[in-house]
Amino acid sequence: MAKRYRVGEVTVTALADIDLRINDGEFVVILGASGSGKTTLLNLIGALDSPTSGSIRVNDFDLTEATTRERSAFRRHSVSFIFQTFNLFPGLTALENARFGADTAGRTDADEAARQALAEVGLAERFDHFPHQLSGGEQQRVAIARALATGNPILLADEPTGELDFQTGVQILSVLEAQARSGMTILVVTHNREISRVADRVIQLSSGHVVSDGPPAGGRAAVGDLQW
Ligand SMILES: Nc1ncnc2c1ncn2[C@@H]1O[C@H](COP(=O)(O)OP(=O)(O)OP(=O)(O)O)[C@@H](O)[C@H]1O
Ligand SMILES: [Mg+2]
Repeated sequence: MAKRYRVGEVTVTALADIDLRINDGEFVVILGASGSGKTTLLNLIGALDSPTSGSIRVNDFDLTEATTRERSAFRRHSVSFIFQTFNLFPGLTALENARFGADTAGRTDADEAARQALAEVGLAERFDHFPHQLSGGEQQRVAIARALATGNPILLADEPTGELDFQTGVQILSVLEAQARSGMTILVVTHNREISRVADRVIQLSSGHVVSDGPPAGGRAAVGDLQW
C-alpha cells in the first residue's frame, strides 16, 4: 500500500510500500520522526483517507473497495479515534462528550456506557465539568472515555500524550495499557521512543517506509518503569 499527496507541482510520498498485518488484540506503537507518515498511516487504517495504491483490509472487510456509506459505518462501529488535540466539544460536559462517542456508535445503552468509560479513566467525579473546567490531562482522559464509550474494537490514538506532562502521560498510558490487556486492538502513534516500550510491537517509520517491526528493544516495560 502507498500514499502520495499532490500539492501543486509537488508530489509527496507519505507512505511507500507498506505491507503490514496487525493482529486482533495487539498493542502497537507506531514510532517515527515528524513527517515520517505516522498520522497518514493511522488515517488510512481508520478510513479517514484512502491509499493511492494497494489495499487495506480490516478483518475481511476491504476498505479500499468499500462504498462511502460502508466506510462511514466502519468509522462509527469498528474504530475510535483519540487525537493529539483532544477535540472535545467545548459546550458539552465531560459526560455529554463521552456520550457523544456512544451515540455515534449507535449504542442503545449510551448513557451507561459513557458513565462507565469516564469511571474507567478516573473521572467519575467530573461528569458535569465542561472542558474549560478540566486540566489538560483530564480533557485527554475525557477524549479517551469518548473513544472507549463507543465500544468499538479498534482504538487509534495519534500522539495521545503529546501535549501532556510526564505524570499525566503515564496516567493516559496506563488507561491504554489496561484496555489493551482487556483485548482491544490499540495503535498509538508517537515520536517518543520511551513510550514505545510499553507496546507488544513497535513499527518504526522513516520517510514513509517501515524500517523496523517487532517487540520493543530490550523487551516490554511496565508503564511505571518509563521515564521521559
Ligand atoms: N493532506 C496532505 N496533503 C499533502 N501532504 C501531506 C498531507 N498530509 C501529510 N502530508 C505530507 O506527508 C508526510 C507525512 O505526514 P504525516 O502527517 O503522516 O507525518 P507524521 O509522521 O504524522 O508527522 P508528525 O509527527 O509531525 O505528526 C509529510 O511530509 C506531510 O507534509
Ligand atoms: Mg502526525
